[in-house]
Amino acid sequence: MQDGPQRVTTKGDSERPNVARLFDYYLGGAHNFAVDRVLAEQIIQKFPVAEMARTIRSFSRRVVRLCVEEYGIRQFLDLGSGIPTAGNVHEVAQSLDPSCNVVYVDSDPVTVAHARTMLRDNLNAAIVQSDICDVGAVLRHPETRRLIDFTQPAAVLMVGVLPYVADEPAGVIARYRAALSESSVLALTHLTKDVEPELVGRLVGLGDDMGSTLVPRSKQDVEEFLCGLKLLEPGLVLAAHWRSDGELPGTSAAADASTYGAVGMV
Ligand SMILES: C[S@@+](CC[C@H](N)C(=O)[O-])C[C@H]1O[C@@H](n2cnc3c(N)ncnc32)[C@H](O)[C@@H]1O
Repeated sequence: MQDGPQRVTTKGDSERPNVARLFDYYLGGAHNFAVDRVLAEQIIQKFPVAEMARTIRSFSRRVVRLCVEEYGIRQFLDLGSGIPTAGNVHEVAQSLDPSCNVVYVDSDPVTVAHARTMLRDNLNAAIVQSDICDVGAVLRHPETRRLIDFTQPAAVLMVGVLPYVADEPAGVIARYRAALSESSVLALTHLTKDVEPELVGRLVGLGDDMGSTLVPRSKQDVEEFLCGLKLLEPGLVLAAHWRSDGELPGTSAAADASTYGAVGMV
């Protein structure tokens, strides 16, 4: 790499860096190659991306724990899951109750290939390869139908994925919400420039250079996504502050200030 970052791929080769494997590296996972690690270290010099990844993964852990322990939810649909490693949804949920069912959805074939291998022996978890905006395809997929009964409370997680949805995320969210029964949960995080405009602008620029467009959104935009849901306390706040339990390893104020988080109940 000379001037800007190398363009990333979602193809399954080990010659070019891949978005999902970069994220896995930020989280301390083992599903990445040397090309991913070199680029990841270069990105880390410009934005605290590893800390941001840990911040949203920690948010997701707290939400899953809450769903299982306090709301008796046993089924999870994780949209834009990434490689399900380093404390992901099925690990947390099934450690609390092995009967929890989890469906991961990701459009990236590399993520899906890694996840299929990891989940091979797990009858209660599966990954579906789909664009999350194709809501009908996700909901009608045989693995979704096998593992999630939408007449019972379920949790839909949109953690770290909505900035990749450039057009009409509100409509997509509303369609998932419409599929959920009463006492279900919808949790989301969203990248924002509200607090750290320059820093987050740098991340957006890096994404553009790598061919991976990110759209940060304001608190008001995200509030609209949550319209009609009963927000659990403390409402829409920075994800790092959402029922923080102090278990965040090596985070930073700048990384924490770049992502909102909220949990709503149907
Ligand atoms: C930041 S990463 C993983 C975040 C993960 N949920 C977590 O909490 O660690 C975002 C993931 O979303 C996936 N993604 C982006 N746009 C998508 C779309 N429209 N449909 C499905 N997956 C998408 C990417 O392939 C990537 O694996």
